Amino acid sequence: MKKLLKLAFGLNTHAVIEPFVIATNRQLSVLHPIHKLLLPHFRDTMNINALARQALINSGGIVELAFFPAKYSMEMSAVVYEDWIFPEQALPAHLIKRVVAVEDSSSPHGIHLLIQDYPYAVDGLKIWSAIKNLVTEYCNFYYKSEDAVQKDSELQAWWKELREEGHGDKKDEPWWPKMKTRQELIDSCTITIWIASALHAAVNFGQYPYSGYLVNRPSLSRKFMPEPGSSEYEELKTNPDKVFLKTIVPPLQTLLEISVLEILSRHASDTLYLEQRGSPEWTKDQEPLSAFERFG
Ligand SMILES: [Fe+2]
Repeated sequence: MKKLLKLAFGLNTHAVIEPFVIATNRQLSVLHPIHKLLLPHFRDTMNINALARQALINSGGIVELAFFPAKYSMEMSAVVYEDWIFPEQALPAHLIKRVVAVEDSSSPHGIHLLIQDYPYAVDGLKIWSAIKNLVTEYCNFYYKSEDAVQKDSELQAWWKELREEGHGDKKDEPWWPKMKTRQELIDSCTITIWIASALHAAVNFGQYPYSGYLVNRPSLSRKFMPEPGSSEYEELKTNPDKVFLKTIVPPLQTLLEISVLEILSRHASDTLYLEQRGSPEWTKDQEPLSAFERFG
């Protein structure tokens, strides 16, 4: 199950965001405000996804070699994608869906956490709200009315392509924002930035610190749970350590998995953090610049 979750995280970050990257590059001019807003969060995504398709998730690749469930990995990812719902990747909505929070309009982020000592949610909500505030100020500066959203032909072409071509299998889902209002634009951009930044960081960078000690999270099991009455069951009762070592990943796959996790958990030397821009001239508009400063 944990490995399925790992695949699901790869799916719910790298894979679902790729259509947004492609449509942004194809449909929005580099001067378009939404292009400028989203582009920094798409850095390296296409390169990494291409590499992953060549060596990590490909047929006979590392995931199939060293991770449960081997050749069914991609098939299981496809099954997880069937349940993918874009608006539910908003952090508050996702916490409610996972039954670790309930709606509460009197709480700062609109939800009440049922588990208080939960750093992913506590820290995540602060980052989520900061992103949302920035995106709200930014979009309300460039779009003064709902009409402006509807009449922006680049924006509409962008939304149509990422929905109908990029996420083609999902194009008829009723939950897609219609991109007719400023709120839909704000929500969609907030979710996109959240997925590509903090969500990805939260599920990605802890992989090696935790799973680099392989017994914490072996990537596959070589044996079924023994049935009571069998000789293996007796061995499990009398020498559980030996059975455990016979069950978890063998040495070669262990090295392979740890190496992959170490590489995946590395920060790029040229990482841009959320409050940074690659170029100070990304915009000359004062209000977005001030909003970005407050965000930082
Ligand atoms: Fe990643």
